[in-house]
Order: sequence, then C-alpha cells, then structure tokens
Amino acid sequence: MMMPPLIEKNGSILMGGLSLAELSGEFGTPLFAYDLNTAGEMFHSLSRFITWKPLEIYYAMKSNWNPDLLRYFRSLGSGIDAVSPGDILMAKSAGFNPDQILYTTNNITDEEMDMAMNEGVRFNVGSISRLRKYASRYPGTSICVRFNPDVVAGEHDYLCTGGSLSKFGVLLEDAREVLAITRDAGIRITGLHEHTGSGIAAAESVYQSMKNLLSIAGQFPDLEFIDFGGGFKVPYDPDEIKIDYTEFGRNITAIFEEFCRSYGRRLTLCFEPGKYLTAACGVLIVEVNTIRDNKSRRIVGVNSGLPHLIRPSFYGAYHHIVNLTNPSATPFKYDIVGNICESGDVFARDRMLPEVREGDLLAIQNAGSYCYSMGSIYNLRPLPAEVVIQGNTAKLSTKRLSFAELVLRLSES
Ligand SMILES: Cc1ncc(COP(=O)(O)O)c(C=O)c1O
Repeated sequence: MMMPPLIEKNGSILMGGLSLAELSGEFGTPLFAYDLNTAGEMFHSLSRFITWKPLEIYYAMKSNWNPDLLRYFRSLGSGIDAVSPGDILMAKSAGFNPDQILYTTNNITDEEMDMAMNEGVRFNVGSISRLRKYASRYPGTSICVRFNPDVVAGEHDYLCTGGSLSKFGVLLEDAREVLAITRDAGIRITGLHEHTGSGIAAAESVYQSMKNLLSIAGQFPDLEFIDFGGGFKVPYDPDEIKIDYTEFGRNITAIFEEFCRSYGRRLTLCFEPGKYLTAACGVLIVEVNTIRDNKSRRIVGVNSGLPHLIRPSFYGAYHHIVNLTNPSATPFKYDIVGNICESGDVFARDRMLPEVREGDLLAIQNAGSYCYSMGSIYNLRPLPAEVVIQGNTAKLSTKRLSFAELVLRLSES
C-alpha cells in the first residue's frame, strides 16, 4: 500500500510521471525527490477551502528551502515565512521581494535585527525584550507582533509552540505593554501573528487560537493583516483520520469575517504552512544493503539514516515506507534502520512491508518537510542529492557531495 502522490503502474511505482526506481538508477541513492505538481495542488487547495479575500500564504521555508521549490512557490504567488537571516538571503536569491518576506524573529541578536532591516523585509517581533530594542533603534516604522495564543496543540510536545511553557510570542495579557512601547516610539503595528503548533489534529484548537488572538486585536487600530501561522495537519499514516478541510476553511473564514465586521475593516488573512504544502510532495529513496535475522526481529539496514530524515527519532514520527522494487511480494514485519552509529537511528519498527531483499529500494514518504532542511552530516556522511519532478521530467536540484568533496569543504579554512 502506498499514499498519494505515489501510484503503481505496470509494476512500477511512479511519482509525477516518473518511475522512482529509474530515477534512483539515474541519480543514485539516497535521494530526495520532490513532485512540484503535488506541492502546487496543495498550495491552490488553500484558497479553495479558505474563501476569505484577501488571503495571503507565506510558505514556511524552514520546512524545505530547496531552491527549485522556493522558485516554484514564488511563481504561484506565495510569500515567505523566514526565521533567520539565512532564510531571508535564500528567499531573496529565489526571487522573492523583501515585502513578500515576513521575518519571524526568535531570540535574535541586534546584528540579525539590523541585517533584516537592511534587507527591507517585514519584521515580526515575538518578545517584549526584542520589541524594546527594536523600538529604540527603529522608531517611526511599522511592524507585526507575534503573540502566544495560549493554546497548546501539535502532534508532539516539541511541536507545540503555544502555552506558557513556550518560548514563542508575547503573552496576550501583555498587549497593553506592547501598545505603550510602540506608541512612545511612533511605531505602527500593522500585523498580528500567532502560531500554535505543527500537525494540529484538533480543528477546535485552531479556532480557539484565532479567537484568543482576535480577543485582543481590537486594541490595535492600524492593522492591515493577521497571520495565524501554520500547523495544518496532513496524514502521514494511511490509517489516520483525515481533516475535513472544507468545513475547517468555512469555520476559519466565519471567525475572521465576524472579527473584521466588528473591527470595521476588511483585513488580509494570512497563513504560513510548511508541512501542508510540502510534506507529501517528497520521498527519500534509500537502498537496502544489510539484512539481519536477530532472533525474533528482521532488521533491514539502509544507506541513509537519521541525519537525512530525523523525524522518526526526534519526534517518534511515523513515515510510510514503500518497497519500490518488490511491491507485490508477501509482507513480513521489519525494523528499518540507518547507517549511523546511534541505536536511535531507526526509520520504522515492526513495519509490514512486501518481502525486503538486499538491493531493494525503499521510498520513505512524506519526506518533503523537515527532512532535508533538518539534515546534517553527522558521522560525516554527505546529505543526499535532491531532484525535482515536474510531469515527466526530473531535474537535479542539489548535488550530493562525495565523501572527498565533503571533507575538502570542511578542511578549507
Ligand atoms: C512561526 C511558524 N510558522 C509556521 C510554521 C510552519 O508549521 P507547519 O510546517 O506545521 O505548517 C512553523 C513551524 O514550526 C512556525 O514556527
């Protein structure tokens, strides 16, 4: 069994119009492949289910900053949610204008603040401490302020960004202080922001966060937009209950509409999804090189590991896995493990897969978000190459360094 966007045709498993096994033959493994059309469909679906206008989407590039994906989102009319000076420079090099980039700051230095201001991007401040420093350095400007929505939601503790344990956002009860600091410095607050968490299964949590932020929003007279962050859930497991996005969008629109009516102006509604846009479009293709029978367990070793796809070991995340080269064989139960010197280097435990043999290729699905971008070279193994697929064509997007190139790069001073 596989999940979209993969399909099986005449014994081959395809993404876009291309066989993933053939792609691996051409570009080698481990290999990340991203299907642009899938990312595009997800992008367009947002304005289908959230019918409020104006609606702006700021792609959370932390989820995947592949340059071809960034250029593609720019061509679709997306903006960018950036979280570091590196994000800002990368987005600009992909062609985004500074006013399409919202920089959400998080424990930044003064140098980073100055750099972002020099780059001309829009600034989203998330603490009273930073707001004071900003106000003394940049009076008379316009900013967005990030509030903590006081709702705890997300698919793992590390993926909940709201609530009083969180380091993110100004507390709602400090709205008056925000107003006082900005009034004294002649700063206009043109945007409000919150992000509750990632992979939020309970729609009610999203509505509650919106309502909590909107409960203080009336105090800010200069608003042009409100950004409710990302966190839209997509299924990682075929058995997961799917969110009814039509109803979800209808409720979001209704909540915002009611607020704008009482505020007296039609504001821009913004979201900044990452996973929703890119998780499904990506696979990591790995090759099986070692199979061991450890008493009761069949352990499958592959030529990749947690530095390439850390979500299972970091968040206990489920990623669906498909045997590309033996898809119709009898299934057995396997542990799928990587090539890193860590016992937590596990992609899946007790996973039923069609018989796996040494030399088989496995596709790890939903590898388009928070995989390559969270990647590292731990154990001095280079990151995989990345290819982008559009229809029947595949293009090498990022090259895999050889071991020698990696070491050379690290040895250069
Ligand atoms: C401020 C902010 N916006 C957007 C996102 C994107 O979240 P997701 O990929 O779950 O949509 C994140 C994720 O951490 C975030 O911190």
